[in-house]
Amino acid sequence: MDGLCREYIKIKGGKPLSGVARIHGAKNAVLPILAATVLNAAENVIEDCPDLSDVRATLEILTALGCEAYFENGRAFVDSKNITTASVPFEQMQKMRSSVIFLGALAARLGEAHMCLPGGCSLGLRPIDMHIEALRALGMEIEVDGLCLHCYAKNLHPAEIRLKFPSVGATENAVLAATATQGVTTITGAAQEPEIDDLLHFLRKQGHLVFSDGKGCITINGKQPLHEAHHRVIPDRILAATLMAGVITCGGDVVLENIRPDHMESVLHVFRNMGAIFIFSQNAVRVKASGNVKGDITVETLPYPGFPTDVQSVCMAALLKSEGIHEIRENIFEDRFRVVSEFEKMGANIIPIGNKVRIVGAKALHGADVEATDLRAGAALCVAALGAEGDTRVFSVHHIKRGYDNLPQILSNMGATAVEKG
Ligand code: EPZ
Repeated sequence: MDGLCREYIKIKGGKPLSGVARIHGAKNAVLPILAATVLNAAENVIEDCPDLSDVRATLEILTALGCEAYFENGRAFVDSKNITTASVPFEQMQKMRSSVIFLGALAARLGEAHMCLPGGCSLGLRPIDMHIEALRALGMEIEVDGLCLHCYAKNLHPAEIRLKFPSVGATENAVLAATATQGVTTITGAAQEPEIDDLLHFLRKQGHLVFSDGKGCITINGKQPLHEAHHRVIPDRILAATLMAGVITCGGDVVLENIRPDHMESVLHVFRNMGAIFIFSQNAVRVKASGNVKGDITVETLPYPGFPTDVQSVCMAALLKSEGIHEIRENIFEDRFRVVSEFEKMGANIIPIGNKVRIVGAKALHGADVEATDLRAGAALCVAALGAEGDTRVFSVHHIKRGYDNLPQILSNMGATAVEKG
């Protein structure tokens, strides 16, 4: 195994959780916001920024582009006055496919952007056709030669962009590119995730005139005078859902601080059906569960405000030890069930049927050595380990570090026996 794979998180399962955990800033909000810092040629401070490998990788890209960019005490600082190149380094693109978000931002700032095509990943092919269609609608010239993308923004014009699917990344790229276009651009069929709204909120703090109607239509009145921005990122709803699934799996009574319940309605609905009790206060929630899911549960992933695909694996983990027969349908990615074979090593009964899985609840799960295949699969294996008898070691921890800021410590704060080794 290479160095990365030898690391593992060891979890001793089988005991209820209790304690307090704080939800850190949202990975999927901070990444596009960091890309947007290239737009204002000024200082940007992003508060409650989680210390994630994806955040560090994005700051490395910003530094390679010529920005002064660093992370300190939960804050990201980016001064984008001096950008010296329009090319995103090859090795960074390979490390993190979501760097494609720099396409629109760099082209907007410099008039051009160059990067290698983002690879696929363990969730599927991850094409970027909608990104390219949206940028071309704004007048961007985009050439693909082999593995590289070259984007030129010489004749930008406002457009009415219609996305055929509410792609989060394509929406973000289109918004960032449209900020450099004189006139009003509309994007219909846009993604409505809370992270998109947080990006628009940050852009308005830079001076952009960008607004959403809350129903999938975004309007951008481009070429505004810009200035420095200071922003606090929204809480990470996927981290909150991950921890809630942990309580459902092994039972307990915990408090999660820094919560936006209005960002999680579809998740709370399913988790209530799974027996969780939520008691909300100021910006915290008390989560109580017996550790024994009863009844048959059906879940299907949909674009926001539907049930999030990023919660699919952890929800599955919480259904493995239960009394019912459950079904999960994945409508967003074509290959997001790779974690199934790892769950089966712990004694789970799962039948894949096309883009859905049927889960026959097991009386008990047992600890095992398992491998994270992607970020959310790794978190889901930790969730399943909390409800399993004995010790589980989750290898390939580097996947988990992309989106969770010290998950073992967060779980330990909730009373779990979780430690990182190797
Ligand atoms: C964002 O990915 C998130 N990543 C994902 O979170 C999340 O699962 C996804 O949105 C859906 O909510 C970040 O925000 C960094 P999409 P993104 O474009 O933008 C297809 C995590 O675990 N598609 O909404 O790549 C695509 O293949 C990650 O935190 C096209 O066909 O997602 C997928 O099947 C995983 N053509 C579907 O649309 C395109 O041009 C949704 O993708 C673009 C996308």
